[in-house]
Amino acid sequence: MQKAVVARVGGYEIRHCDRDDIPTVIGINGETLPEHYSDYFYYDILAEFPESFLVAEADGAVVGYVMGRVEYGFSHLKKLGLARKGHIVSVAVKEQHRGKGVGSLLLKTAHEAMAARGGTECYLEVRVSNVQAINLYQRLGYKTSGRLEGYYKDGEAALVMAIQLER
Ligand SMILES: CC(C)(COP(=O)(O)OP(=O)(O)OC[C@H]1O[C@@H](n2cnc3c(N)ncnc32)[C@H](O)[C@@H]1OP(=O)(O)O)[C@@H](O)C(=O)NCCC(=O)NCCS
Repeated sequence: MQKAVVARVGGYEIRHCDRDDIPTVIGINGETLPEHYSDYFYYDILAEFPESFLVAEADGAVVGYVMGRVEYGFSHLKKLGLARKGHIVSVAVKEQHRGKGVGSLLLKTAHEAMAARGGTECYLEVRVSNVQAINLYQRLGYKTSGRLEGYYKDGEAALVMAIQLER
């Protein structure tokens, strides 16, 4: 069955993730990031937040993904107060497909889905050494809202970055 395309950039198509895509998504995560999750974590997020779990496809092959969910908790942008907020749990694009706008479009499409589900802001954690990702988030409009010392298993700190979502 033809899978519905929700956005396009160059020869890349963004569409919702399917259960069948999860093994490929886990493979891309394994080759691009040191943070891995149990298989059921991916399936659970897909079941609960299908709108903001997206994949990028080129020539019929999945080359990137973004996995997001919507949470309720302290705002990362307001001084005080609670917010319904999107959380980018993981985003990655295979190395040979980077620098072509795929990561940006995955994030922007996830933002729209989160806003449609009531999210007023979106946040993520990123390694302080991950300059490529930090640059991209800043270009999209993310601001650093905090720093978590020793956040990752190897002891590296994370920046917490957040962006206001458009309704
Ligand atoms: C972070 C990541 C997802 C970005 O994906 P990407 O597809 O390369 O992202 P984009 O192509 O949208 O943007 C990357 C750069 O390419 C540039 N770019 C975008 N479209 C472009 C195009 N058509 N032609 C040339 N350059 C382009 C952007 O300006 C951007 O530059 P900047 O970072 O200096 O602003 C990718 O580097 C990755 O998978 N990294 C490993 C996993 C990771 O670290 N994930 C984040 C964890 S928090």
